Amino acid sequence: MSITIKSAEDIEGMRLACRLASEVLDYITPHIKPGITTKEIDRLGAECMAQQGTISATVGYQPPGYPPYPASLCTSVNHVVCHGIPNDKPLKKGDIVNVDVTVITKDGWYGDNSRMFLIGECSIAAKRLSALTFEAMWHGIVQVKPGARLGDIGHAIQKFAEGHGFSVVREFCGHGIGKKFHEEPQVLHYGKPGTLEELVPGMMFTIEPMINAGRREVKDFGNDGWTIVTKDHSLSAQWEHTVLVTPTGYEVMTLSAGSPPLPPFVTATTT
Ligand code: MF3
Ligand code: CO
Ligand code: CO
Repeated sequence: MSITIKSAEDIEGMRLACRLASEVLDYITPHIKPGITTKEIDRLGAECMAQQGTISATVGYQPPGYPPYPASLCTSVNHVVCHGIPNDKPLKKGDIVNVDVTVITKDGWYGDNSRMFLIGECSIAAKRLSALTFEAMWHGIVQVKPGARLGDIGHAIQKFAEGHGFSVVREFCGHGIGKKFHEEPQVLHYGKPGTLEELVPGMMFTIEPMINAGRREVKDFGNDGWTIVTKDHSLSAQWEHTVLVTPTGYEVMTLSAGSPPLPPFVTATTT
């Protein structure tokens, strides 16, 4: 087991998978407003994937010790940290929801990404958590270049998030990705600069920080084998991109027409 290095041809396959994963989020975006259920979001995601000719990586996904995941995407509302299962409860004004989409192309490449959505008018605290989690992800992304280390990514995210009074979830991390959903390396969203694996051109992994407004501890929701919530019931946010290490820096792979604008400190999606 080791970190796969993607060839030029592999990277082309991943560019397509990742763009399509981002386009699923674009497709559902206009529908995400008060009254829609997360099951309806899931149906729209599945409809888009069918049109694309991709399949969902999450339907039936079953890591050891888990039941098969039952939906085409994940919807994590308010204090749900990750892996929320779509259900029949309508979203209401003031909710925040992460939608996490992973598609597989016909060539077998996986593209994985997620965004936050604000439902109607939200509290200042909720807007701030979502916006700063987006920035935290980007603080991690801009660390990516040959010679940097995984610990640099985690440290940048942790320092930014904790500097704003938030906490970083420890139990879940980013991951290598390619012809498998979850490969090496693990990409922790906390850590020390100059530690862990050195980045090499052709590595491809996700950066997907889960940031809590309150304490960092999480627990199983309890009844479905998947849903993870904050222990203190505080709000949690997450954003995710799939990123390539290039000879000169990074290339963000999961981009499309509807990707949100870059934070002010970021100059480009490819360096
Ligand atoms: N897409 C998630 C990730 O970023 C994994 C979801 S697994 C599921 O790693 F089974 F919950 F869908
Ligand atoms: Co991921
Ligand atoms: Co994901």
